[in-house]
Amino acid sequence: MNPYELPVEDIEKLVEQHGTPIYVVSRQKVVENFRRLDRALPAVTIFYAMKANPHVGILRALHEVGAGFDVASRGEIEAAVAAGANATDDLIFADTVKDPKHIAYAHGIGLDDFTYDNASEITQIARYAPGAKVHLRLAVSNEGSVAHLSKKFGARIDEAVPLLVAAREQGLRPHGVSFHVGSQCLDAQRYVDALDQSRQVFDAASREGINMDQIDIGGGFPVRYLDEDIDIDAMCKTIVDHYHRRFGSDISLVAEPGRNIVGDAAILVTKVISESVREGLNWLYFDDGTYGSFLDVLLYQMQYPMRCNSTRAPKPYVLAGPTCDSIDVFSRDGEGDVCQIELPEMHLDDLLVVGSMGAYTYAESTRFNGFEPPRFVYID
Ligand SMILES: Cc1ncc(COP(=O)(O)O)c(C=O)c1O
Repeated sequence: MNPYELPVEDIEKLVEQHGTPIYVVSRQKVVENFRRLDRALPAVTIFYAMKANPHVGILRALHEVGAGFDVASRGEIEAAVAAGANATDDLIFADTVKDPKHIAYAHGIGLDDFTYDNASEITQIARYAPGAKVHLRLAVSNEGSVAHLSKKFGARIDEAVPLLVAAREQGLRPHGVSFHVGSQCLDAQRYVDALDQSRQVFDAASREGINMDQIDIGGGFPVRYLDEDIDIDAMCKTIVDHYHRRFGSDISLVAEPGRNIVGDAAILVTKVISESVREGLNWLYFDDGTYGSFLDVLLYQMQYPMRCNSTRAPKPYVLAGPTCDSIDVFSRDGEGDVCQIELPEMHLDDLLVVGSMGAYTYAESTRFNGFEPPRFVYID
């Protein structure tokens, strides 16, 4: 079940037992999300992008049902291996900017699949993981997605063949391309266009004698936060149909979804720890904020569904976190400006329940001012 549907009495019981702030997590929902994507993307091998949420209970649950992991660092590799993953079969190192110490560590334990998008990364991989398999990441359109990753990552199409040739010349084994359409992508056309660009690169590479056999279609699969119109099955069908049109079935596919697997599998429960009226506005202060679970409110103007355990009449509120920084306010509009949010009247000790808090919340939280990230409470 989506834990946002938990009755308020159950949430209050969990708070009595565990305190606040807490993430209330359904492992069953994580597994259900993985299986739904796995079914909708037949013949695609899924490597969960553990940067979305690396908590051990989530990694173990996904490993048990056959997911691999996309890792970005030695820390993530160690966490995945501790959850049961095998470095050679279950891990891909798909970040394009890698610490060379982490490349060497990965190579040393048998991880053999690295992604790159520039010449210096070829040098680093060839030095620290000689002979490794590599994917070339392409910059593709991220239009309409929430997080635009191609601003920082990916080679242009005209750079692709020289970069593939350079990898081969340095003893690496170029075996595919990868792309990322941007996180929280709401338009399947982004994947269609990216597959077309991949086709162009496959054809140009084969003229240079480089015959590749895999496409990594990245992540980007969305989560419903408020009222987004999302049909994952339809999106995946568009991708799979277009893949068959452009590639037959000779080329294998992998994907690195993060957000879609964990986003709606966790809620946050945070408590009112202070309240005030400032310049005529009602402020509520909680035991979690933008230095904890709400960083993406600042970075990407994310907005999450919210409810509370009060049944009083609604009032407009500014919602703030506990730290000493004035940027620690998580009621913000689509432009990122502080705004008021209407909630049933709340006071000290009341609980705010925030939905779809599984992805890029705990993973991005800091320990600023000595506040620890929320604890995990698994309900199944
Ligand atoms: C290399 C890479 N793969 C996969 C992902 C996961 O993307 P998403 O959570 O949008 O599925 C990301 C997100 O930043 C990424 O950088």
